[in-house]
Amino acid sequence: MREFVYFSQSARTSGNFNTNELMKAGRMDIVIHVVISAFFLSHDVREDTRLHLIFYGQPDPPKHIEIQVTPDLDISKKDVAGLIKKMLYKYKLGKKTEVFPGCFIEKKSFFNVIEELEKEGKEIFLLDKKGEDIRKARIKKDCVFVLGDHEGLPKKELKRLKTIAKTISVGNRMYFASHVVSVVNNELDMRNI
Ligand SMILES: C[S@@+](CC[C@H](N)C(=O)[O-])C[C@H]1O[C@@H](n2cnc3c(N)ncnc32)[C@H](O)[C@@H]1O
Repeated sequence: MREFVYFSQSARTSGNFNTNELMKAGRMDIVIHVVISAFFLSHDVREDTRLHLIFYGQPDPPKHIEIQVTPDLDISKKDVAGLIKKMLYKYKLGKKTEVFPGCFIEKKSFFNVIEELEKEGKEIFLLDKKGEDIRKARIKKDCVFVLGDHEGLPKKELKRLKTIAKTISVGNRMYFASHVVSVVNNELDMRNI
């Protein structure tokens, strides 16, 4: 299973946002692009991928949304924003709630999510332009890739993450978060991971 952790300092933590104005919802537009790159193929979806979205925006941070596409999940590329909005609305205090098959929401901090993945024996990679070339990196089957939003990861989180994760790069240009997810997916596909 390949996993992505997307951190956003600004993405809204309640469902009361307008799906026609995603930029105003703490750059929810970037979130939607990341979801599409993580799961959608031409006429197919990836069932080998799990995505963790960590939102630190207002009004009730932090929120951890976990998505894995299963045959029971009715997901459309045209309404990813609607899916995220409904999940945020269904959050229940003190619970990890399965809102749709394979889709969960809970209150959990970025580092609690990372630490859990580490305890499960996953290999954590931090995606950073200055890291080691992904094409030269050794990557095991149970791998986790962490990336930030348009502002990147906050300095404090970055410093701590660097002590537990291996830093890898997909090239010397600064790409959109969703582009990076596509490149990583492609690299893992090429390696049959
Ligand atoms: C749009 S970029 C963030 C730009 C932000 N201004 C910064 O300086 O971090 C979004 C995320 O994509 C990832 N990223 C962008 N370019 C990358 C690259 N060449 N290699 C690896 N990760 C990259 C990083 O994790 C980054 O946080």
